[in-house]
Amino acid sequence: MSIVDLIIKKRQGQALAADEIAAFVKGVCDGSWKDYQIAAMLMAMFIRGLDPVETTGLTLAMAHSGDLFDLSRIPGIKVDKHSTGGVADTTTLILLPLVAACGAPVVKISGRGLGFTGGTVDKLESIPGFKVHLSAKEAIDLVMQSQAVILSQSDNLTPADKKLYALRDVTGTIDNIPLIAASIMSKKIAAGADAIVLDVKCGSGAFMQDLESARKLAQTMVDIGRLAGRKVVSVISGMSQPLGMNVGNALEVIEAIEVLKGNALGDLLEVTLVLGSQMLILAGLAENPTSARRLLQNKLQSGAGLQKFREIIINQGGDPRIIDDYQLLPQPACRGTLKASTSGFITAMDTAAIGRAFVEAGGGRKAKEDPIDYAAGFIFKHRLGDYIGAGDEIAAILAATEEKVRLAHSLLDQAIQIGNKAPKPEPVIIAVVQ
Ligand code: URA
Repeated sequence: MSIVDLIIKKRQGQALAADEIAAFVKGVCDGSWKDYQIAAMLMAMFIRGLDPVETTGLTLAMAHSGDLFDLSRIPGIKVDKHSTGGVADTTTLILLPLVAACGAPVVKISGRGLGFTGGTVDKLESIPGFKVHLSAKEAIDLVMQSQAVILSQSDNLTPADKKLYALRDVTGTIDNIPLIAASIMSKKIAAGADAIVLDVKCGSGAFMQDLESARKLAQTMVDIGRLAGRKVVSVISGMSQPLGMNVGNALEVIEAIEVLKGNALGDLLEVTLVLGSQMLILAGLAENPTSARRLLQNKLQSGAGLQKFREIIINQGGDPRIIDDYQLLPQPACRGTLKASTSGFITAMDTAAIGRAFVEAGGGRKAKEDPIDYAAGFIFKHRLGDYIGAGDEIAAILAATEEKVRLAHSLLDQAIQIGNKAPKPEPVIIAVVQ
């Protein structure tokens, strides 16, 4: 069937056969499908959906579109983690050092920002010198030495996802269960870990805005993992407000360090401990969530987690002095302040809109080639449900120009609602899907 016929077939809502999906994935990688044809197919898939057989077929074709990491040289059960994407979701930078300090080997392959969500690779690249492009051999050697490494997807690892991810980001085809499940699980299967913990975000700052869709995505990924012979646990966590207080690349590195120093508590730490506990259980290093949490908290309190983060930065060519001197991270040229126009409770935070304001501030990309401003972002002073007085600071805004500060200010202002009645508190951990 020709490329156009395949696009029309999906556009008409028919299921694609395994060899047709394989032809699509091959065409994405070898360039025989043009970007506009791939984008048209993605939109057809987005609108018409993919059934479970198509989703698994797409996942496996994407996983095998490049190299597969062979982690057999590393002793022990290799664990991995992935988030479906959120705002101020800095868990990886805290989790990885803590879990590694407990002895679990982790080869973490992370992505760049996607749509309104941030990306770990962008955050790490804000650390001067930090290298995210490593060969498989270099990555495995580092895990043998330090238990943990964080790298960007190489051109050879799931090249199909790399291409599709970048095109989805700029064609409005991100928030779709089969496409997200295939994207995440293809990378996780190719990355070679034995066990995977997935953080499925749910709420106004997540691709899955309601619990039903989040559960469906969680279950789809657990099912794909089972078919691929991996142990998978999904944690559904809340994203109806930014997870941490800082939204930004360098800003989130700072917040992760503050958590590792024991200076910051709250939802970001809670989600980190829950995900980390599941990783330790899957790695066979703890029997239950209580004992796993205790192990992680010990590593936090003793400073072993912070020390492990320092080691990861040094291993990957970064400047470890940033841990003690945040001025060595990229600095913004301009600053502004979002103040409350009236007193009351913060009743809603449209977190996707906050993520879009962050893109406008320069911290994210609108087109896949766009450079980003590592210093840009927001420092929130309050959380959902807080009572604030008129004129109180809600957030600091950091950007490269006054114009960007103004734009972000107006978008942030619209994203935050203040009312008379305190909203019902929502737990940040919603469910665990085994
Ligand atoms: N994270 C991914 O890796 N892929 C998606 O499609 C969405 C979030």
